[in-house]
Amino acid sequence: MIKKFSFGKVFRTESVPVSLEAQSGPMPFVAVDEQEMSFTYRMDPQVVVYGLGENVRGINKRGWIYESKCSDEPRHLEDRRSLYAAHNFLVVDGKETFGLFIDYPGILTFDVGYTDINVLKITASDWNLDVYVIDGDSPRDVIRQFRRLIGRSYIAPLWAFGNGQSRWGYINAEDVREVVRRHREGGIPLDMVYLDIDYMERFKDFTVNTERYPDFAGFVKEMKEQHIRIIPIIDAAVKEEKGYPVYDEGIEKGYFCTDESGKPFVGAVWPGRSLFTDMLNKEARDWFGNQYKFLLDQGIEGFWNDMNEPSIFYAEDRLADVLEEIAEMRNGDGNLDLDAFSHFTNLVGSLSANADDYKKFYHCVDGERIRHDKVHNLYGYNMTRAAGEAFERLVPDKRILMFSRASCVGMHRYGGIWQGDNKSYWAHLLMNLKMTASLNMCGFIYTGADLGGFGSDTTEDLVMRWYALGVFLPLMRNHSEMGTRLQEVYRFTDIEGFKNIIGLRYRLLPYIYSEYMKAVLRDDLMFRPLAFDHPDDARCKTIEDQLYLGDELMIAPVYEQNAKGRYVYLPERMKMLRYSRDGVFSEKILEKGDHYVEVELSDVVFFLREGHAIPLASGGQCVDEVDFDKLTILTFGDDAVYEYYHDDGVSRNYEDPANWRALSACKE
Ligand code: GLC
Repeated sequence: MIKKFSFGKVFRTESVPVSLEAQSGPMPFVAVDEQEMSFTYRMDPQVVVYGLGENVRGINKRGWIYESKCSDEPRHLEDRRSLYAAHNFLVVDGKETFGLFIDYPGILTFDVGYTDINVLKITASDWNLDVYVIDGDSPRDVIRQFRRLIGRSYIAPLWAFGNGQSRWGYINAEDVREVVRRHREGGIPLDMVYLDIDYMERFKDFTVNTERYPDFAGFVKEMKEQHIRIIPIIDAAVKEEKGYPVYDEGIEKGYFCTDESGKPFVGAVWPGRSLFTDMLNKEARDWFGNQYKFLLDQGIEGFWNDMNEPSIFYAEDRLADVLEEIAEMRNGDGNLDLDAFSHFTNLVGSLSANADDYKKFYHCVDGERIRHDKVHNLYGYNMTRAAGEAFERLVPDKRILMFSRASCVGMHRYGGIWQGDNKSYWAHLLMNLKMTASLNMCGFIYTGADLGGFGSDTTEDLVMRWYALGVFLPLMRNHSEMGTRLQEVYRFTDIEGFKNIIGLRYRLLPYIYSEYMKAVLRDDLMFRPLAFDHPDDARCKTIEDQLYLGDELMIAPVYEQNAKGRYVYLPERMKMLRYSRDGVFSEKILEKGDHYVEVELSDVVFFLREGHAIPLASGGQCVDEVDFDKLTILTFGDDAVYEYYHDDGVSRNYEDPANWRALSACKE
């Protein structure tokens, strides 16, 4: 059961697409303090808190403080309170089980037992918000109700479940051709190559550098003939440059955010001085969405939206002040002692993502001016919504791949997300797994992290172990930062090992896609913690490095350097499946309990639950080559039946009953 409570003058975020009558009377479960602008709940020691989507730390969020404040935050360290998203939904699971969704566009703090381990306290920056309280039988039940409330999650095209290769630093068409050639020659399956900002003309959205891509449409077609989709990046900020049509038209029509005096607000991102489209203004949003047509018309079928927190490297006014102050510091003898030097570094550090700068520009919504910081968390959502709504207008019969960096609840209807600028750290492999479960709870099903790690130099074993997790995740993409060690799989020594792991993805595709679609169509989780299925098994409550995938599989990746395997806890009897480098599955039945499982670097080990079966294709070099009808079945139990969903993968015809089939066990 869901109850809505409203406080103050609520800004319509449209995170919830349906309208519920607000209740009067006391709010169940939590204490409300209007003065303090907070909600408090006393947690018994056994309480576990799930949710909060994209954040650092565990699946159980208890013991840390989180802030919903979309931030360009490349250091995904444990002391971070926010990353790129604002996912204001959590589930309290103890003697009482309930969910809370704070529908609020500004900055929120979730103190989940940080100040006091027994207290959950949510504090808003002002008192204008809707709160949904969801009472349910179990965390999964609460989550399903929440997901039904917020509307169906974005559905990606089938080809977007293939393997993708990306790097900030593929400069021109030749670089991309080389990536494709090396994959194809090496027999490494590939479906997508991503274009980072280097494809644009001086980092201007909706332009292509014609020296680097003399015939872009021809190039996109050439790639498509090789079953490769080209996926360009789109950044939130628009370069300030007279004669650049997007800038000129945006200025003329008044579509950019303005400063207090009504002039366009200028902040810098990749192109230097830039403007920010007023994504909250419907007319401006439609206009920005229409710009994607420039690339759709050249055969592009997918995009990634970036820097849309929005990221601001510096605001024009502040830069002028800082430069002036620094110049003054150099007057006199120019000597920077300890205090002066730390003042200098603070000054420079204060330029990027300065909280005050987010108070210096305005949106115009239904004729009303709204200061950005009051609605900060809606920006990335509405940029991706601009694109999603435009795709529905421009290409109604086709699914377009779309994922974003910044997000909040509501955006899940228009795109997926990638988990941002992680690093080539073993800890970030594990974080990828944990975050996936939390994101599913908040409606983000098409997700993945940069395989191999984005920042810092990676190592072959890390990339390989990461792929062994990546083969199960909807968004499977290797991406890295310019200047770091090259990490396409063909750069390493054991290419056969990589080929084997990525090859498994193409054998598992019927299952992965079917499970993804089930989670979306049924408002359910594709990945979930073990405790959801074993509420009475105390061990499961603390296990965060294993997840269920659908009702059939358990995954338990190896995430430590030099590990020869790992301990796995089985809450029930399962069949262990090992996919080894010769492309052969071996199986072993393991009883409930703890097991040490050896896992060679090039092996993928996963677990099939008793009474269940999964379909398996024979694989392929690209999704087009995979036969989704000619399947074999891996089973644990003779009468196991798999409920198989498959559709054409492109249209929006999801509701056709013919998409569902029962597959029963037969010998491979
Ligand atoms: C941001 C993105 C990253 C991209 C880079 C350059 O850091 O998160 O994925 O490579 O910008 O565009």
